[in-house]
Amino acid sequence: MLSYAELYRKGMERIEQAGAEHLLDLGAETRSQNRMNREFMESLAFEMRFLGSHYASAKTTLLGREVAHPIQLAALCPGRLLNAISGYWEEPYMESFAEGLKDAGSWFWAGRVAETELQRFIRIGVPVVRIVKPAYSEGWDETDMIIRQLKEAEDRGCIAVGMDIDVFFGEKSGDEPPERYSLGPQTMDQMHRYVEATQLPFIVKGVLSVHDALKSKEIGAKAVVVSHHGGECIDYALPILRILPHIRKAVPDMTIFAETGFQRGTDILKALALGADGVCLLTILMIAYAGYGRQGVTDMVRVLADELERNMAICGCRSIGELDSSIVWHPYPDSTKGE
Ligand SMILES: Cc1cc2nc3c(=O)[nH]c(=O)nc-3n(C[C@H](O)[C@H](O)[C@H](O)COP(=O)(O)O)c2cc1C
Repeated sequence: MLSYAELYRKGMERIEQAGAEHLLDLGAETRSQNRMNREFMESLAFEMRFLGSHYASAKTTLLGREVAHPIQLAALCPGRLLNAISGYWEEPYMESFAEGLKDAGSWFWAGRVAETELQRFIRIGVPVVRIVKPAYSEGWDETDMIIRQLKEAEDRGCIAVGMDIDVFFGEKSGDEPPERYSLGPQTMDQMHRYVEATQLPFIVKGVLSVHDALKSKEIGAKAVVVSHHGGECIDYALPILRILPHIRKAVPDMTIFAETGFQRGTDILKALALGADGVCLLTILMIAYAGYGRQGVTDMVRVLADELERNMAICGCRSIGELDSSIVWHPYPDSTKGE
């Protein structure tokens, strides 16, 4: 298995060669949210609990399915970054990404892809989650089209479906104009109809408030992804780990995935301790893919799972179920632990 350093070095070398380094930090206007997100994540510290501790297992259950670890892909489509690095690998590159995830025991989260592509991922044998876009046209009702996409995903064999709600007003990368024209806000009634249209668990991606977590519960969603879409929503968006404990408290029975900015096993452990059931990553897997293709994706997930298990043991937690916020400390003496 390749090391984190090897995976990272080679991947970054190729991304730089492709002139695509800037695509690793997409963000609205000033990109403050990615910086703030990492700063907050890095400000949290662990206490160590060696006495009475033993080797840990990250095995857990997500949406009723047993998984070897809670490390998942963040929703992916063939965007600019993937296009820039795909030249190093034989097409079809999305499939090789999916195969790498299958070997690592993770699911494939498919974003804006064609239905025929969806079928190809499913055939690989990797569990597929389908995240549809909030399609919108002025003067035209897209509800039935979205419902058709959700049903199609179910019929083809996806294990869960959902929507990224944080692009209601377009994705924003730096000074580029937001992609306003094909995306737009969905009403609570529409969201309710989407959840009703499928037997599969429905996931709301892009939740960064107790407000949206409660509304997700109200429409009948089973899970939320606490995320700000790699920074492409609003400047100064709350850091993921700052809001996460509040969302966990507000919706104790929902499955919560944390996402955006996760890079190491320690980051993942912080999210699990603060209330996440699973953690989704994309940029770090892209870097690994750029360097070593399918093998890079598999090895990166395995390296992160090993880091997670070692760190859990050091904090005295043998299983995911034993984790709680008491192992995480905030830097300031007047802050409450883990909240
Ligand atoms: C190449 C690329 C494609 C993406 N495609 C989608 C998509 O189709 N749907 C979606 O909800 N998010 C999409 N995202 C956003 C990611 O799911 C995720 O929110 C973001 O990358 C933050 O996670 P990270 O910091 O681990 O990269 C995409 C991101 C990238 C870089």
